[in-house]
Amino acid sequence: MDNLYILKGKQLPTHLKNLESIYQLIEIGHDEICPGANLYYSDKLYFKSTNSNYALFNIDLDLQINKITKQKILKTDIFFKAFKNTDKETHIIDATAGGLKDAIFLMKLGFKVKSYEKNRIIFDLLTDAINLTNHTYFNNEGNHHLFLGDSCELEKEPKIVYLDPMFSHNRKALPKKGMAIFSEILFSDSSLNDNNSNYINSFFSKGAEKIIVKRADKAPYLEDIKPNYSHKGKTVRFDIYLSKKILK
Ligand SMILES: C[S@@+](CC[C@H](N)C(=O)[O-])C[C@H]1O[C@@H](n2cnc3c(N)ncnc32)[C@H](O)[C@@H]1O
Repeated sequence: MDNLYILKGKQLPTHLKNLESIYQLIEIGHDEICPGANLYYSDKLYFKSTNSNYALFNIDLDLQINKITKQKILKTDIFFKAFKNTDKETHIIDATAGGLKDAIFLMKLGFKVKSYEKNRIIFDLLTDAINLTNHTYFNNEGNHHLFLGDSCELEKEPKIVYLDPMFSHNRKALPKKGMAIFSEILFSDSSLNDNNSNYINSFFSKGAEKIIVKRADKAPYLEDIKPNYSHKGKTVRFDIYLSKKILK
């Protein structure tokens, strides 16, 4: 069982109460150092990193929402192109939620999004982040739903799937700043090695019509499967896979 350190005198808020059965709760004073990398609750839920001098990491959705301006969406027009002509009533399956940055992009484009996150710690940080934002993207029933678990197993009726799996287990391929702690959480999760994944066939076998895969510009195709076409940006590429029924 992993530990959740909680600042003395604080209580877990209602939306995080279930964590009491998942983690071992340990009270800690302001100046005490909690050993190892663990979750930590004070005013919100953080991940306490062992690297970066015990830096705290949390997910701030309002910050992301403000950073992604309309202008930015047009600039990143491979994102725009990849979802052009997609029916706005279709829920996009965000099969690899992460920090929900791309889910926010999709909502800014007018889509409803169903996100899946398989890593427990990231999911718990997201649950807290969603509770802390007042933005309508996350508070209007129907715009966004978050589920814990493997999207390939849980999603029964995928139509349009967006995939941004881990870039690779090569640390050099990851951005140096900012994402380091996020990567620390993910690198410790052995179930997240995309070398063994089977996303593409699994979503097509469940009826997906289109799968959009985000890759680093020089990364090999996911699962070595050649896409129907790609949209290339400066640092990332979107590989587009279409089902046979769409191509008919
Ligand atoms: C590179 S991050 C995604 C970043 C995200 N697109 C964003 O904009 O913040 C990949 C995330 O997908 C999650 N993940 C990988 N495979 C998954 C699966 N099969 N089901 C659900 N989540 C998965 C990982 O735990 C990780 O948090």
